[in-house]
Amino acid sequence: MKACIRSVYGSADVLQVRDVESPTPAGDEVLVQVRASSNDRGVWHMMTGFPLVVRPVIGLRAPKVQVLGRAFAGVVTAVGSAVTRFSPGDQVFGTTNAGSWAEYTVAPERLLAPLPPEVSFEQGATVGCSGTTALQAVRSGGVRAGQRVMVIGAGGGVGSFAVQLAALRSAGVTAVCGASKHDLVTSLGADEVVDYTREEVDARGPRYDVIVDCAGNRPLSLLRKALVPGGTLVSVGGEDHPGRLMQGFQWQLVRPIAGVFVRRRVRSVVAREGGEDLVELGRLMAAGELTPAIPRTYSLAEAPECMRYLAEGHPAGKVVIAIS
Ligand SMILES: NC(=O)c1ccc[n+]([C@@H]2O[C@H](COP(=O)([O-])OP(=O)(O)OC[C@H]3O[C@@H](n4cnc5c(N)ncnc54)[C@H](OP(=O)(O)O)[C@@H]3O)[C@@H](O)[C@H]2O)c1
Repeated sequence: MKACIRSVYGSADVLQVRDVESPTPAGDEVLVQVRASSNDRGVWHMMTGFPLVVRPVIGLRAPKVQVLGRAFAGVVTAVGSAVTRFSPGDQVFGTTNAGSWAEYTVAPERLLAPLPPEVSFEQGATVGCSGTTALQAVRSGGVRAGQRVMVIGAGGGVGSFAVQLAALRSAGVTAVCGASKHDLVTSLGADEVVDYTREEVDARGPRYDVIVDCAGNRPLSLLRKALVPGGTLVSVGGEDHPGRLMQGFQWQLVRPIAGVFVRRRVRSVVAREGGEDLVELGRLMAAGELTPAIPRTYSLAEAPECMRYLAEGHPAGKVVIAIS
């Protein structure tokens, strides 16, 4: 089968699209013909091997799994002996640890959900990582009707889902993003847009009940000034932090503790993939209440280009790789 692989850590230049052996499903796994996959920062971390703290899991000197990619959608072609929920021919979506930028992949059934017929493979492929993270972030913030919610990094992968999910709960949504994403975030349900290159997030005073921070590059002291007393900051992540060991992962651990000192609730999200949340996101997409933002689609041969676009740091919505 054709797959996008790398045998060493590095930039998008280490990626190669070539023929490799198809995987075989273990007892609890499903073999899936991948129809579409997507890209996100997690995949970029696996490509670069940074921060170093992830190396014990993904491979100390070289990647344990050569095929890149996590979230995907496709058609089941075979199932392991212990699989109970899926049969060949079923359309599924979710994530895999075996690499999804390939014509075939395997995944444990707990990481998959049935793809509703109303949802395209491209749409389904965007949800496994970013949609799940956004749902858990909005839930963790306790977002409810009538609240004012700020989503920082609103035009990116997680943010574009978080804007929609907060608006679905009848909250007023302020999207923080670069000017080029104004129309995108408005179309997703934001009723107010802050262009962070012109205005800082605290410029309008303490008016947000919940902040979902997907950019992660502002100090807690600044974010605090935008929250109402008793408000909640949900920390999702961020890039561009110095240091090879943690590259900002430490803030996910430290921020909730630091919240005590600034007298605001601070929650860090560590996304749990698969399970009921995937089913819930499928139901919302099927009902037309959640529509993944997919401004760009690449072919498998263009996977290195797709990664370069993401690595620039300003991707719009979800970047999809159409496989077959
Ligand atoms: N905790 C978890 O379990 C979990 C799960 C998934 C992802 N994450 C992390 O969460 C972060 C966001 O993920 P993602 O997939 O949404 O990334 P993404 O698709 O790369 O989007 C990031 C967005 O942030 C915007 N941005 C960049 N600098 C900004 C700034 N100074 N202020 C406001 N916005 C800025 C970018 O576009 P513009 O500048 O053009 O607006 C971009 O749209 C990443 O660090 C990722 O690793 C964590």
